[in-house]
Amino acid sequence: MFEEGQLYSPVTQSDSGAVVVHLGAGHPGFNDPVYRERRNEIAASALAWDPAATPAPVAYTDTENEIWALVSSELDSKHQRYAVSEFLSAKAAVGLPTDRVPQLAEVTARLAPLTGFSYHPAPGLVPLREFYGSLARSVFHSTQYVRHPSQPLYTPEPDVIHEVIGHGNMLGSPRFAALKRAAGEAALRVQSEAALQVIADVFWFTLEFGVMYERGELRAYGAGILSSYGEIEEFRSMEIRPLDIAAMATADYDITSYQPVLFAARSLGELEDVAGGFFASADDDTPERLGIAAAASPR
Ligand SMILES: [Fe+2]
Repeated sequence: MFEEGQLYSPVTQSDSGAVVVHLGAGHPGFNDPVYRERRNEIAASALAWDPAATPAPVAYTDTENEIWALVSSELDSKHQRYAVSEFLSAKAAVGLPTDRVPQLAEVTARLAPLTGFSYHPAPGLVPLREFYGSLARSVFHSTQYVRHPSQPLYTPEPDVIHEVIGHGNMLGSPRFAALKRAAGEAALRVQSEAALQVIADVFWFTLEFGVMYERGELRAYGAGILSSYGEIEEFRSMEIRPLDIAAMATADYDITSYQPVLFAARSLGELEDVAGGFFASADDDTPERLGIAAAASPR
């Protein structure tokens, strides 16, 4: 079973304060010392951030801005074809720059009047409980690094393009923002790791990889699909199941490739009823009620 945290490269800080991002051997930037140093620098800036202050701006390079501009443009035409109307309206309302990477403070400023969400810098993995708990306070922990320039349309990790073009645009919608807050409130309510994992799994299959029927056509609303150049072309050929909380909580597959099974809502209203209703009522007895208590041991 997955958890989104496994996707992030680990970040360590030595006693001397040196911050290192440990890219896996298969990462496109693994053999690029300049990229690795850049990753260390951006992670160090996030680690040094004082939550009482505005996040320090990252001075994005021309290359990083060009990657943003390319992916932003490629995704835009795909969004028009494949994204649900609620996402498209939210994206228009947020109005992110298309020619350069926005600072997190800018994303916060654009979301504030729409849904009140704030973007806080994260060096990499944020522990599940902290990540979801923050959503309850309308805070989204976001990485700031940009994918490796050798493969601009692919990233093995959630980079700033995923966090901002995927989640940031979604968070311009009061209805999607409410679902994210509800997931956060559910995470704060439960004590057990098993219950927290069920919440994370339902979040994954809805707000990250959710699809929905709209005017008879399958469209995507999940940030993971809508920020992935490859996945957005593939979701209609995946195995599509109806929304089912127990099935989402027990689905088991490889997180490193495209999601082979997706769960489709018949409407945004149904998503709010099923996933929103689940988040509103989830508690420590949830795994047992779903009949997955035994399967929810440490993963
Ligand atoms: Fe995500």
